[in-house]
Amino acid sequence: MRKKTIEDYVELVYDLQKGKKRVHTNDIASALKINPASVTEIFQKLNEEGYVNYEKYSGATLTEKGKKVAKATKKRHDILTEFLLLLGVDKKTAEEDACEMEHILQPSTMDTVIKFVEIVKHCQITPYWLERLKRYVKTGKLSKCPPELVDACLKHATTSK
Ligand code: FE2
Repeated sequence: MRKKTIEDYVELVYDLQKGKKRVHTNDIASALKINPASVTEIFQKLNEEGYVNYEKYSGATLTEKGKKVAKATKKRHDILTEFLLLLGVDKKTAEEDACEMEHILQPSTMDTVIKFVEIVKHCQITPYWLERLKRYVKTGKLSKCPPELVDACLKHATTSK
């Protein structure tokens, strides 16, 4: 399993901080199923690097720097989830995998994913190939492209050159 990075922890503090003032070691410990003593070490490291304000016994809050990283990570998370859902991945898996991918994709790949999601969303109708893909993912049966659609695509390709 991939080792958790600062981004992972900052993102988790951001999620857990919603609706409360401070995030306590026990909140992180139970979310990650790890020892509270390990969380104290993590908080101390995040505090040293300026991502959280941490005080022993009263927990941590994100600094502006921490919030910035958390929001950028969240944004990548949401777009990657959307991307995977578009491909027909189920919601739970999409969320879990997006949470891994958000930390490892190179910026150029992330930009391409963003553009992919944008272009699909800007289509006035769901692209037929995407419907076919979703059906294929769901049923395991690869359908043929309807001949009239192939004709229309070929016609479009030759006229738009
Ligand atoms: Fe995430």
